[in-house]
Amino acid sequence: MIARGCAANGAHTILIDVNEQGLCETVEELQRIISDSKYSSLETHAIHGDLSSEDGVKEIVAKVKALQNPVDALIHCAGVRPASVHNHQFVPSYQTSKAAVDHLVRIMATEFADFYIRVNAISPGIVPSGMTTADASSNLHLAKEAPAGRAGNDEDMVGTALWLMSKAGSFMDGKVVRVEGGRLLILKGVTSNSD
Ligand SMILES: NC(=O)c1ccc[n+]([C@@H]2O[C@H](COP(=O)([O-])OP(=O)(O)OC[C@H]3O[C@@H](n4cnc5c(N)ncnc54)[C@H](O)[C@@H]3O)[C@@H](O)[C@H]2O)c1
Repeated sequence: MIARGCAANGAHTILIDVNEQGLCETVEELQRIISDSKYSSLETHAIHGDLSSEDGVKEIVAKVKALQNPVDALIHCAGVRPASVHNHQFVPSYQTSKAAVDHLVRIMATEFADFYIRVNAISPGIVPSGMTTADASSNLHLAKEAPAGRAGNDEDMVGTALWLMSKAGSFMDGKVVRVEGGRLLILKGVTSNSD
């Protein structure tokens, strides 16, 4: 979704995924978007790799460096799937992993502050994806309960990502942006200071 938005808005892209077939399909999709756009010289590269091990990460970094393209923005979307669907709001391993990401954003932003490398996160509501499918066991059917009355879409996610990556977001650092159609307002356990 975000790769589509980057390509449609004139960015070269390097896609990294452990799923080789999905990677090939996404590259083909981006190439179609690029050929239909005014940015016909854009490049799309695919790197098949596993981000879950140190060796896997090193291999991917070496392949990115070999492309000799400067990296202006790095978007990390690879994530664990919940062990069970969290529609009843109690899946502690998944939820604590997300809380850890919130804190990791602040730690990484602080760590890289001297270089003005900004680190922010998008914390989405329910958005159709490989994880959130139309399948009956998915959370997608809960999307209509949020104040927005719908699931998130490309415009919601891409718009937020482009804002954070662009000059318009250059004053945003170490922040987690909740883009969730108001879903947190209707969930139990949300306190007045939840951002
Ligand atoms: N879709 C939603 O409604 C939603 C809501 C809240 C949070 N999230 C979070 O967003 C993140 C992305 O989820 P998504 O919905 O885009 O799911 P997705 O399954 O569509 O995308 C995740 C991608 O990561 C890849 N991946 C997984 N493990 C990898 C690894 N070790 N190395 C390289 N690639 C790997 C997968 O192959 C897949 O293409 C997750 O952390 C998820 O919990 C999603």
